[in-house]
Amino acid sequence: MNIVILAAGQGKRMHSNLPKVLHPVAGKALAQHVIDTARQLGPEKIVVVYGHGGEVVKSTLAADDLAWTKQEPQLGTGHAVMQAVPELPSSGQTLVLYGDVPLTKAATLKRLLQAGKDGLAILTVDLADPTGYGRIVRDVDGNVVRIVEEKDASVDEKAIREVNTGIMAIPSERLAGWLKGLSNNNAQGEYYLTDIVALAVAAGLPVRTAQPDGEWEVLGVNSKVQLAELERIHQRNIADALLVQGVRLADPNRLDVRGELTCGRDVAIDVGCVFEGKVELAEAVEIGPYCVLKNVSIAAGTRLAAFCHLDDAVVGPDNVIGPYARLRPGTRLGPEVHIGNFVEVKNSTLAAQSKANHLAYVGDAVIGQRVNVGAGTITCNYDGANKWKTVIEDDVFIGSDTQLVAPVTVGRGATLGAGTTLTKDAPPDTLTVSRARQVSIPGWKRPQKNKK
Ligand code: UD1
Ligand code: MG
Repeated sequence: MNIVILAAGQGKRMHSNLPKVLHPVAGKALAQHVIDTARQLGPEKIVVVYGHGGEVVKSTLAADDLAWTKQEPQLGTGHAVMQAVPELPSSGQTLVLYGDVPLTKAATLKRLLQAGKDGLAILTVDLADPTGYGRIVRDVDGNVVRIVEEKDASVDEKAIREVNTGIMAIPSERLAGWLKGLSNNNAQGEYYLTDIVALAVAAGLPVRTAQPDGEWEVLGVNSKVQLAELERIHQRNIADALLVQGVRLADPNRLDVRGELTCGRDVAIDVGCVFEGKVELAEAVEIGPYCVLKNVSIAAGTRLAAFCHLDDAVVGPDNVIGPYARLRPGTRLGPEVHIGNFVEVKNSTLAAQSKANHLAYVGDAVIGQRVNVGAGTITCNYDGANKWKTVIEDDVFIGSDTQLVAPVTVGRGATLGAGTTLTKDAPPDTLTVSRARQVSIPGWKRPQKNKK
């Protein structure tokens, strides 16, 4: 079995410089969805037909298992498939997919291939409003006779509600011959792939149809309106699957998964969260409202309060994070760590039970267990040219408004007084403080305003 993906259309109605098939649904290009589904079917070959201005399509989606063929000019769907023929083996089945129809399930396509085992098979749907689609014309016995495009259809044919989704399984050995037999003598002056249906019937081959489980599976994208609609459908499908699996979603309509989200038992997710890349939430993790998590792994029992932003972070079990915490790439948190509001952590490790609860910057630091990072503490990790490391050993207490000028080490059990600017290592089990001594000046008077 071989697959041809038609992706040469310009997508004028997208009003965009980006080719239509590169617009994203769930953070992934439309055509990438189609390619990923195609791969699930294990084809011998996948050929993508791209068009004018489509070099960026090719360079964006390029992969070792894809063959590419350019269609220029674009003279219709039949002409598009014709461009792929030299790339295609002439045995088995050829499955035609559209690069702008992203949500078709592999199971549906398997049914279609099965229906086309000994002939030709068309994926069709019954639409309440079939306007714009090619109609499936059947004879009195219900056998498919041909497909007629809307622009070529009679009034009676326009009344048919069963439409061609465009997705077809074609016997490869017949394909080249049928395509050669196409003419563009029709309302649009195009070579219609759909005309091969009548040719199959004339050749006495069985023509069968298969249907998707949901209409959304065969919806295409021609405009930003349709792109947004498909995004919501896809997101709702993801949310429903999470609900079925037992995840508690405050509102399945206010969740966005742009990658792969895996959840353990009793995970709860509040409204407005965005999950990107690969995100793992272990058992009983709770995510507060409006959090953004990208390539993150969170161990069991951790709670994120509202408005947290996590990127490439590994968070240990039973942490309490946020609200308004920012964990940047390279953050590694041990068990029972607390990261509070307006705390930024980057490329740093905090071991078990350490806390940075208020307004801190922890960058390029290795922090031991049971460390308390006071409010307003900053690791001065950057000297304007290079980044340097801060080491804070176990059981350290760092007073508020401390600057640790890296490279610097704070020894085990040390205390840093509030307001310290640490430029040399602090010895263990010792109070280190760098600040002017406090003085009170008796009899001092505030200045008075001059009299005119
Ligand atoms: C096509 C079908 C119609 C079906 C509808 C489903 C034909 C003649 N008609 O109509 O029966 O109901 O899809 O959406 O096949 N493309 C190319 N090169 C071309 C023309 C199209 O690659 O020269 C690609 C487009 O990018 C798109 C797909 O083929 O992905 C369908 O093309 P489109 O112009 O949308 O076909 P329709 O007229 O809608
Ligand atoms: Mg179309």
